[in-house]
Amino acid sequence: MAYSDKVVDHYENPRNVGKFDNGDEDVGTGMVGAPACGDVMKLQIKVNPATGLIEDAKFKTYGCGSAIASSSLVTEWVKGKSLDEALTIKNTQIAEELALPPVKIHCSILAEDAIKAAVDDYRAKHAAN
Ligand code: FES
Ligand code: FES
Repeated sequence: MAYSDKVVDHYENPRNVGKFDNGDEDVGTGMVGAPACGDVMKLQIKVNPATGLIEDAKFKTYGCGSAIASSSLVTEWVKGKSLDEALTIKNTQIAEELALPPVKIHCSILAEDAIKAAVDDYRAKHAAN
């Protein structure tokens, strides 16, 4: 199967690989797995407490090229967004941007789910106080 140029670019030069300290109250962590293939994606957001905007994002993905490219892309997309805006990112947008073939659509769903999980985690941390 041929990967699109954008997938190869994000796979070879992934943006924002790494992690934040999950104990940081400004950090939300989402960890999701794909039942279809067993791949795992961890995505973290760092929220600016003054503005409420996502100022940084990082990921680690144990998975295929499309999953790595999808997570790299969404860490770029969420920066500067509010939490509500980040929740509007759809896997279909990711799949379209990366020109993913049907068999790789679940890789983009993983990225959408990871963002939602990271936002949920951040909100849960702050709801407790
Ligand atoms: Fe092997 Fe996704 S199925 S990396
Ligand atoms: Fe399963 Fe890409 S995440 S093949």
